[in-house]
Amino acid sequence: MNPPPQHIAIIMDGNGRWAQHKGLPRIVGHQHGVEAADAIVTTAREFGIPYLTLFAFSDENWGRPREEVEQLMQLLADFLRTKRDKMIANGVRLATIGETDRLPVTVQHSLAETIEATAAGTSLTLILALSYGARAEICRAVRRAMTAGISEITPDQLSAALDTAAYPDPDLLIRTSGEYRISNYLLWQLAYTELYFTDILWPDFSPEHLREAIAAYQRRERRFGRVTA
Ligand code: IPE
Ligand code: IPE
Ligand code: MG
Repeated sequence: MNPPPQHIAIIMDGNGRWAQHKGLPRIVGHQHGVEAADAIVTTAREFGIPYLTLFAFSDENWGRPREEVEQLMQLLADFLRTKRDKMIANGVRLATIGETDRLPVTVQHSLAETIEATAAGTSLTLILALSYGARAEICRAVRRAMTAGISEITPDQLSAALDTAAYPDPDLLIRTSGEYRISNYLLWQLAYTELYFTDILWPDFSPEHLREAIAAYQRRERRFGRVTA
């Protein structure tokens, strides 16, 4: 049995289809998706998982209809406002990866305030991937390394220049909604991550589903290219 994962990364997918199946607008799916995310943060903390990275908005998601992008930004602002006290009370520390300077200024301010207000949290680090794309992140890292005068870049140096420099690589990646792809998420960091796909649509992903995913992970044999002893 593996010990529980230290870092879980999730691609929260299927909000739109969840709403569509119910004959509701996509935004209603996103609203329920936020509640599912809140419950999963609480559960991850209860399970003693130190790091949780949630894919909340991708570089590519900027290409969605303007109305949907605006609604998602509003939901993000609402999430930060309504969950801040709970995060503080639960020792959840907020962080972000991605090009957050592309987000609306009001959202940037809410993020900065919440990051500061939760900075002393020690039970769970919640990392929101916002305006995040892994290829762009890797390019930024290479540019940072070049600016720092590093010419012969090593894997450790590249890792240290990524947005995720302060966090361990994910042990477990979960993607909901029955899609089997990575969608430009954490390409470098997922090199040896265990992948877990489920057909559950994100708004239906419950604490019990998280427990199942962790249990499946704990049964896996992680060999890292070696042979079993
Ligand atoms: C995931 O749900 C949330 C975001 C990408 C912001 P989707 O909106 O991608 O839902 P589907 O995949 O269309 O069902
Ligand atoms: C990935 O989901 C991004 C997020 C969950 C935020 P998408 O729905 O955007 O990915 P694709 O388009 O199915 O690859
Ligand atoms: Mg999707």
